[in-house]
Amino acid sequence: MKPIVSPSILSADFSNLGHDIDMLNQSEADWLHIDIMDGVFVPNISFGFPVLKHVSRLAQKPLDVHLMIVQPEKFIPEVQALGAYIMNVHYEACPHLHRVVQQIREAGMLPAVTINPATPVSLLKDIVCDVYMVLIMGVNPGFGGQKFIGHTVEKVRELKDLLLQTGSQALIEVDGGVNLDTGARLVEAGADVLVAGNAVFKSQNPLEMIRALKNL
Ligand code: DX5
Ligand code: ZN
Repeated sequence: MKPIVSPSILSADFSNLGHDIDMLNQSEADWLHIDIMDGVFVPNISFGFPVLKHVSRLAQKPLDVHLMIVQPEKFIPEVQALGAYIMNVHYEACPHLHRVVQQIREAGMLPAVTINPATPVSLLKDIVCDVYMVLIMGVNPGFGGQKFIGHTVEKVRELKDLLLQTGSQALIEVDGGVNLDTGARLVEAGADVLVAGNAVFKSQNPLEMIRALKNL
């Protein structure tokens, strides 16, 4: 099975976002990964809903929305209004994660849960059967273009085992530091979905890079 590829527009040219979204529309990318940051949960702010409203109008691929914010449940209606396919919240930001996951489903989106590099996979045991996808961060969230944390590959293997043990059908997504080299190791370990920001947008030929990631 080819990996699902979800380019992150965090590394796109914000002065010409329409152009870059058009490129993704023409590409073999499966989804568009959208990183929302609040300057509280992570030490950076990206873009908010007024900008994303325009992005969602232009995008012709399903939106994979990754919220790096505290209390993400407050924004379920806004994410729903974007027509998001997946709403991805952090384990570390949700003391009542089970409730948030149900609320996301009730809003007609697929719920996903994300863990930071220091959060063990084992903590997901009681939620993996309720989510569509688990996202394992390959870097500390907040910025594009960071170095991949090698231990992430082991976490993917651990998660794969946990999914088998629990009978969960959840997809495994990895975000942060993904390129052709780390992507190959992640797919071999069991990753289903690769998010790539810098690898795509800083490449000489983003369309070719997306194709290469799809063919890992
Ligand atoms: C990091 C974001 C990522 C980021 C990945 O906080 O969640 O989606 O855009 O960027 P690269 O692929 O450049 O590491
Ligand atoms: Zn992300």
